[in-house]
Amino acid sequence: MDSYYMNDLDIPWRRAVVSVDQFSRADIDEIFGLAARLSVGRTMPLTGKSLVNLFYEPSTRTSSSFYAAMTRLGGSVIPINEVNYSSVTKGESLEDTIRTLECYADALVLRHYDEDATERAVSVASVPLINAGNGAGEHPTQALLDLYTISKERGHIDGLTITLMGDLKHGRTVHSLVKLLRMYDVKLNFVSPQELSLPSSYLMSGDSEYLDLDPVIEDTDILYVTRVQRERLADTMVIDFSYAVTRDDMDRAKENLVLMHPLPRVGEIPPELDSDPRAAYFRQMKYGLHVRMALLVSMIGRD
Ligand code: NCD
Repeated sequence: MDSYYMNDLDIPWRRAVVSVDQFSRADIDEIFGLAARLSVGRTMPLTGKSLVNLFYEPSTRTSSSFYAAMTRLGGSVIPINEVNYSSVTKGESLEDTIRTLECYADALVLRHYDEDATERAVSVASVPLINAGNGAGEHPTQALLDLYTISKERGHIDGLTITLMGDLKHGRTVHSLVKLLRMYDVKLNFVSPQELSLPSSYLMSGDSEYLDLDPVIEDTDILYVTRVQRERLADTMVIDFSYAVTRDDMDRAKENLVLMHPLPRVGEIPPELDSDPRAAYFRQMKYGLHVRMALLVSMIGRD
């Protein structure tokens, strides 16, 4: 495969997953169908293939689920977590690191703190690349697994009222999920402290914004909660807000509410809610494994 430069996301997602903007509803149906099949199958279509996990930011779920996905499918993984032990500490550029690692791999998974990192990497990469989070920009594979979770838990996406609560300004999972949800007929509510509200570029008419959950909890079908992304706040920003889902909220919520969180949580959902069958955040991770398996098979499963 030749190197290529990004042209306004005019890139097939099978070559590089940069943003959720690359997916159509038909693509999503295809990925979800494959994820469901792979979740029960025992095939190893990626035998002999290798993946590099290149993470410039901390990760537990994303890096280990790509690792598990690749190895379950018969492939192998070169894990470079937090780059502390790589030549990045010697000053190597992202571009050179990508050019190096692609010599050893059939695909790359990249998480980086810069929003333009994925595009820079894609512009030099000659193997398929997956954006596993670019700063406060996007996290497309998380959004796909979030959407898959919704469809698995509720059986459909159209017609749902979905409330997103937390750091909507910096949360890349929220940014990608909101864009994906625009493809469906859903009602979106946004709950956040004023300082952390959703950037206006993601808002559309029909959306509702609130400072707390109270007015929307009873009508909500899906409650998607995120932590404050403290690592992305300006040093000068004083953090004097907190928010959390309470037992009282859950008592008022629908019986078939789906409570989601991309994790890690740092107080937004107290552990006492974990035993509530509506708490889906642990199941969400399992769905994520299957979605990432589907993406890997779609991108490198055939020559
Ligand atoms: C998210 C991320 O890295 O953006 N984590 C994840 O991938 N599950 C959410 C977060 O860190 O808050």
